[in-house]
Amino acid sequence: MSASYEVHGAVAVITLNNPPVNGLGYATRRAVAEGIDQAEADAAIKAVVITGAGKAFSGGADIREFGSPKALAEPNLHSLIAKVEACSKPVIAAIHTVCMGGGLELSLGCHYRVAAPGAKIALPEVKIGLLPGAGGTQRLPRALGVEPALNMIVSGEAVESQLLAMVPGQKLFDKITGSDVLGDALAFAETVIAKHADGSPLPRVRDLKARHAEPDAYFQFARNMVAAQAKNFPAPLRCLEAVAASAYKPFDEGLKAEREGFLALMMTPESKALRHAFFAERATSKIPDVPEDTPKREIKKVAVIGAGTMGGGISMNFLNAGIPVVLLEMKQEALDRGIATIRKNYEAQVKKGKLKEDKYQQRMALLSTTLSYAEIGDADLVIEAVFEDLGVKQQVFEQLDAVMKPGAILASNTSTLDVNRIAAFTRRPEDVIGMHFFSPANVMKLLEVVRGAKTAKDVLATVMALGKTIRKTCVVSGVCDGFIGNRMIEQYSRQAGFLLEEGCTPQQVDKAVEKFGFAMGPFRMGDLAGNDVGWYIRKRRYQEKPHLRYSMTADLLCEMGRFGQKTGAGWYDYAAGKRDAIPSPVVVEMIEQHRAAQGITPRKISDEEIVHRLVFSLVNEAAHILEEGIALRASDIDMVYLTGYGFPLWRGGPMCYADTVGLYNVVEAMKRFARNPLDDASFWQPAPLIQRLVAEGKSFTE
Ligand code: NAI
Repeated sequence: MSASYEVHGAVAVITLNNPPVNGLGYATRRAVAEGIDQAEADAAIKAVVITGAGKAFSGGADIREFGSPKALAEPNLHSLIAKVEACSKPVIAAIHTVCMGGGLELSLGCHYRVAAPGAKIALPEVKIGLLPGAGGTQRLPRALGVEPALNMIVSGEAVESQLLAMVPGQKLFDKITGSDVLGDALAFAETVIAKHADGSPLPRVRDLKARHAEPDAYFQFARNMVAAQAKNFPAPLRCLEAVAASAYKPFDEGLKAEREGFLALMMTPESKALRHAFFAERATSKIPDVPEDTPKREIKKVAVIGAGTMGGGISMNFLNAGIPVVLLEMKQEALDRGIATIRKNYEAQVKKGKLKEDKYQQRMALLSTTLSYAEIGDADLVIEAVFEDLGVKQQVFEQLDAVMKPGAILASNTSTLDVNRIAAFTRRPEDVIGMHFFSPANVMKLLEVVRGAKTAKDVLATVMALGKTIRKTCVVSGVCDGFIGNRMIEQYSRQAGFLLEEGCTPQQVDKAVEKFGFAMGPFRMGDLAGNDVGWYIRKRRYQEKPHLRYSMTADLLCEMGRFGQKTGAGWYDYAAGKRDAIPSPVVVEMIEQHRAAQGITPRKISDEEIVHRLVFSLVNEAAHILEEGIALRASDIDMVYLTGYGFPLWRGGPMCYADTVGLYNVVEAMKRFARNPLDDASFWQPAPLIQRLVAEGKSFTE
C-alpha cells in the first residue's frame, strides 16, 4: 500500500503510506491521484485531507527512484500537484513530523494547510545541487513571503512549523494544530466545508502575489550574499533566480524559469558530485555479508585507553551522545592533562554559544577516570588509543583480554598497525576491531571501521551502528597498512615531495591544491598534523620497502626540528600562538640545496600538473585498494576523502572526480607522468582495475 483512502463523514482522508518517510514514488503518486479522483466522483464527499502515516507527512521524492524513469512517470509530481490544486473540493494538507522537498510542494498545491507544532519544514534540494523542481520556488515565496522563502530555499535548512506560522502575513499554515493533527484537520475540514458551501472559490497559492517592498534592492543584496557564500556551488544562485522569478513573473512563467534552472543544474558536475555524495553516504552502511538486521551488542559504557591527542577527542564523541566513558592512563598527570583538554574544548564551545553550560556539566558528569585496568572490565566497548607501537599495543591488549567481560568489544584506534596481529594478542580475536578516528576526533566526521580477518559480524554491525549514534560517517576498511585513507595519502605525499624536488615551492603546491578546492594543501596539512608523524612512518618504510623512492626534503625538514605548528616551524614559519602559514626562506633554501646536491635543474610546473599528479596518485592507489577488496566500493573511498581529508565536496571525491575527467584521460596523464625521469614510473602503471574499466568504457562510480 502506498497511500490509503478512508472516509470520515463528508471528508475523504488520503494517507501517504510509503515507509520510511512517505517518499513520493510512482505508486504513491498514483494512489494519491486516484484518491482525488475518487473524492471528486463521490457526491457525499465535501472535502479531502491529505496526511502521512508513521514518522512523516512526506520526506519528498522517493530516493530509491532517483534517476530512474519511474521518478518522472506520470502522474509526475507536477501533474499530481496540478490535479490537487484543480480539485473542485477543498483539499487540506495535515502536516506533521517531517514535510520536506516534494512533500512540501505537494502541500503547497493543497487549498489549506494545517500543521502540528514541531514539524520540520524544508526544501532541501539545494543540498544535492538542485532547486525545488515541482513549484516550490514559485509557491513558497507566495505563501510565506519572499525573504523567508528565499532563506529556506537557498539554505535547504529545516524550520519548525510553529516558527513559520509566526511570520507576519504568511499564508503557509492556516492553523497550528494540537498533537492530534488528523483529528484537528478533520475539524478544520468541517469549517472549510461550511465556508465554501456557497460555492466560493477555493484559495490557491498560485494566485497569491510574492510581494516584496523593495524587490530590486533586495534581490541585488541577496545575490551578493549568496554568491559570496556559495563559492563553487551553482545551485544557490539558481535557486535565488527562480525565487526572483516568483516576484517578477506570472506564476506559469515562473514555473518555466524554475524548470529551466532545474534542468541546467541537473547537468552540472557539482550537482552530480553532490548527488553522488548523498548516495555514497547512504551506501557506506551496506555490508554485503552483514545484513542491516544483524543483532547488535548493547553498548552502555565505553572505556578509552590513553588520554592523549586522540583519546580525549574519542571520549568526547561518546559523552556528547550521552554514553558514559571511563578513561584510563598510566599516570595521573597524563589523565589530568587529558581531562583539562576535554574541558578546554567544551569551554570553547560554551563560550561560542554552541553548548549550554548545563549540557557541558552533564557531559563531564558522564566521564570518569582510572589508572587501573581492574576498573574498566564492565565496559561494553574499549577503544585503545595509546602510542603507535606494536609492543605497547600488545601489552594493552593482553591486559584487556584479561580484564574485559565476555562479549566486550575491543577496538584499536591504530592508524597503521596490523589489526589482525593486534587481535592475535587476545584469546578473542572475533571481538577485536579497528576504530580509526581522525584528528580532532571530536570534530572529524570520518570513522574508518577496520574489519579484521576474524572480526565477528555482530561486532562489525554494532560498531557501524554505534558510529551512527556518535554521528560519524563510518566506512568499512579491510586490513592493510594505512587502511583506505592513509594508504592513499602516502602516495599523495610522495608526489608532493617529488614536486618540491622538481621545482615547486611548498606554497605553490598548497595554493594549486587549495584552488582545486581542498581545505588545505599537503604542506599546510603536514604542519598541522606534525611532520614527525610521516617521518616516523618513512623510517619504517625505508626498512620494509627499500625500493620505494621518497623525496628527502621532508626528512631534511624534520632533521631541522621543523615538525610543524607544534614546534612553531615546519614547511612554513609561524608567529607565536598563530596558525597563519608564512613562507619560509630557510625551507626554500633547504629545497634548493637539496636540488643542487641531486643535480636537478628546477622547472616551472603548472597548477594542472600539480593537481593531477596529486589527485591521480590517490586514484591509482584507490583502484588497487578497491581491487584488493580493502574498500567495498568506489563511493566508500570518496566518502573517506570527503569526510576525512578535506576533498572538495563539489568534486564528489577522488573517484567521482576521476570519472568526471574520464578514466581514459586519467590513464593518458598517468602515462605522461611515468615518462618523467624524476617521478616514479612504476607507481604510474595504471592499476589493472582502471585499465579494465577504460577497456570496457566504464567508470568507477556509475
Ligand atoms: P598521544 O601520544 O597523544 O597519546 C597517547 C597516550 O597514550 C599518552 O597520553 C600515553 O600516556 C598513553 N599511553 C601510552 N601507553 C599506555 C598504556 N600502556 N596504558 C595507558 N595509556 C597509555 O598519541 P595519539 O596521537 O593520541 O595517538 C594514539 C593512537 O591513535 C595511535 O595509535 C595513533 O596512531 C592513533 N591515531 C592518531 C592520530 C593523530 O592524528 N594523532 C589519528 C588517528 C589515529
